[in-house]
Formats: sequence, C-alpha cells, structure tokens
Amino acid sequence: MKILVVGGGGREHAIIRSLKKNTNITEIFACPGNGGIAADATCVAISATEIEKIVEFAVENKIDYAVVAPDDPLVLGCVDALEEKGIPCFGPRANAAIIEGSKVFSKNLMKKYNIPTAAYEVFEEMEAALTYLEDAPIPTVIKADGLALGKGVIIAQTRDEAKTAVRDMMEGGIFGKSGSRVVIEEFLTGPEFSFMCFVDGEDVYPMTLSQDHKRAYEGDKGPNTGGMGAYSPVPIISDEDLEFSLEKVMKPTAAAMVAEGCPFTGVLYGGLMKTPQGPKVIEFNCRFGDPETEVVLPRLESDIYDIFSAVADHAPMPEIKWSEKVTMGFVMASKGYPGDYEKGYEIRNLDNMPEGIRVFHMGTSLKDGKYCTAGGRVLMVVGFGADLQEAHDKALAAVESIECENLFYGRERG
Ligand code: AMP
Ligand code: GLY
Repeated sequence: MKILVVGGGGREHAIIRSLKKNTNITEIFACPGNGGIAADATCVAISATEIEKIVEFAVENKIDYAVVAPDDPLVLGCVDALEEKGIPCFGPRANAAIIEGSKVFSKNLMKKYNIPTAAYEVFEEMEAALTYLEDAPIPTVIKADGLALGKGVIIAQTRDEAKTAVRDMMEGGIFGKSGSRVVIEEFLTGPEFSFMCFVDGEDVYPMTLSQDHKRAYEGDKGPNTGGMGAYSPVPIISDEDLEFSLEKVMKPTAAAMVAEGCPFTGVLYGGLMKTPQGPKVIEFNCRFGDPETEVVLPRLESDIYDIFSAVADHAPMPEIKWSEKVTMGFVMASKGYPGDYEKGYEIRNLDNMPEGIRVFHMGTSLKDGKYCTAGGRVLMVVGFGADLQEAHDKALAAVESIECENLFYGRERG
C-alpha cells in the first residue's frame, strides 16, 4: 500500500513515524517533507499548497491513500481534489475545513448551536471596529478572520494597542486578506488544553489530551507562536472537564457541521480554556495540532492507519489505546522566530539519541548528509517518562546535547 502525506513539519513527521508501524504500508511519500522526514519517507519537491501538482503526483504514482495534514491545503480543497480522482483521503473537505479557515464561521456556528465560547463581535469596517473599541472591556482579543500561521491573534492590554492591531490588520494588511474581517472577542482566563478528536460526521472519538505552550520566551513572555512545546496528558484537566468538553463541545460541534451540510471528517482540534465558568472554545482547527501531535501520537498504541481508514470509510472505529507513559517536548526554534530568522545553520548531534527520546523535524533540510535549519520552528524533541518531570528532564537533556548556533528553546516549558 502506498501512502501520501501532504505537509512537511513536525506533525507530518510524527504521523509518518506512526504510519510506518503498519506493515501493509510499503511506501510513504511526503509533499514536500523535510530533511528529517527524508529518513522515514520519500520526499517529493511539491509544496503542500500546490494542489494540482499533488493530485497529479498521486494519480501517476497510484497512491492508495492520502493524509492531508496542514490547514492551508485543507482549506484550499486538497481533499476534494484528491477524492475527485478517486483517491481516498484522511482530512476534511474544504467546506468543513472552514471551521478553521474562518473565525467568523466558527464563532457564528458556536453561537447558533450554543457551544461555549468567548462573547464576540465581527467587523468588516475598520471605523466600526475602532468605535466599538472605545468602550470595549480591556484586555480584549483581536483576531484576523482567516489563516495567519497561528499569529493572527493579538491580546491587547490597552485600548491603543487594540486599535493599532485593528488598523494593522484591516488597513495595514499584515495578514493579507485574512485580516480584512476581524473578530473582537472577550478576554478569557484559565489554563488552555488541546482536545483533538477523530471525527466522522456525528461520530466523535477523543484522543488523549495535550497542552501546548504558545509564548516564544521563558516565563510565559514574548509573542504568541504556533507552539513552542507541548506535553500529554494534562493532569490539571479533570475527568469532569473532559466529559463536558466531549459532550458539550466536540460532539455538538460535529453534529452542527452535519446539520449545516458540511460534515467533518478528519481531526477536529478544540483549543479549549478551562475558565472559572467551565471549558470554553478558544479556537477550532481542522487538523492535528503542531506540536501537540508530536507528544500525542508517540503515546498511541493502536494502529493509526486503521483509525484513519475507519474515519475515511465511515467504518466502525477500532479501540483507540494510549500508553500510560507521558510525553513532553521542546521546540528548538531559529533565533528571531516568530519574527524574521535566518536559515541554513548546521545542526549537529542528532544521531544516537538515548532511549525514550523522539526527535521530530519541523523545519530542516539535508545538505551533503548534514541537517540544517530551514524554518522558524526547527525541531521538536520529545521525552517519554513515568511522569511529566521525568519526561521533561529527559527531553531537556536531549535538547542540550543538540548543537546549533542559531537555535533557542525555553527551559521550563513543555
Ligand atoms: P488562537 O489562534 O485563536 O488559538 O489564539 C492564540 C492564543 O491566543 C490562544 O491559544 C490563547 O492563548 C490566546 N487567546 C485567544 N483567544 C483568547 C481569548 N478570548 N481570551 C484569552 N486568550 C485568548
Ligand atoms: N499548536 C497549535 C496549533 O496547531 O494550531
């Protein structure tokens, strides 16, 4: 069986490592993959958003099954295009991927179906947004409607900051078209957790919980990023919170998508916050989280291909088992990330990692047999342990043994 994985980051590396455990899979291709993925799959020099080329490649190479992992190709209709050519896929079609592709869509869906989330207003005109901000409670949260690489959210601590964010998005175009509409939302407080579920229409199969760490620098400081580290499971989230999140958030959302005529198939990611009033949705994603996947999938003991095909074929789901061991991982990022950064620095000591460590490549290239930095987030180094402290210590020791002059990481986080 030949599998195509669309994407080229740490999430895709973790998916490919899990797929490799299935002995019926003879070949895995990655579009475009990366330096580290090249050790586990055949990398094809087609970017994840070149939908036509991906389809052409899949047809020519008689791909049996495709996994479309990143948000952009999902929102652009990569699954629709592959399915049109008869290639079964794991991932939502474009009309369901909009749950991530448009914050206005997801907020309106939550309002209509009573799914707990922060109160909000949508603005299409900058002047109206600025007027609203004159009296809005502060801090406030400004969100670009469309995709923005996890950077389209500004938490404004002052009215001026909020207005600048609105101007930057709606007039300055810092997120391009994604910022032409904005959501201004109530600021919520509490610990966040990532609840990813395999979803097939109304059927929802939860994964183990994880938490990612959004701020770029230690001490919860610095700008928001796509995620600088993660761990799984999340002890601060009680069974009651989990039950509530499944029954009152994820299942009703899946049912709402069916009712709206855009049934979701794939991974629905609930970014939730445990507020004093209970769990509320911060965001939905239409895919596996990154770096959450790198701490969640290593704990999966069931066959991931069986799960993927049960979802794609609308067939009965096998039992989904998780290891008792816990995981914690640190992202090693290029200095400057999430702002500008340089690429091409050699990374040494990646071979011979000790037992209980998994290194997933997020943004690397392979040049003359040497790994080099090739992205903002470069590596996700994950440790296994009996508890979070052990996983943390192991991961940190591994991170410290990796040599590269242009990488940084946060010591206390996972
Ligand atoms: P998002 O891309 O929507 O997940 O937002 C990125 C991060 O901004 C979240 O993980 C939160 O830490 C923070 N955030 C987003 N919305 C809110 C909110 N309404 N209240 C407080 N923090 C928020
Ligand atoms: N780590 C957050 C995300 O994948 O969007």
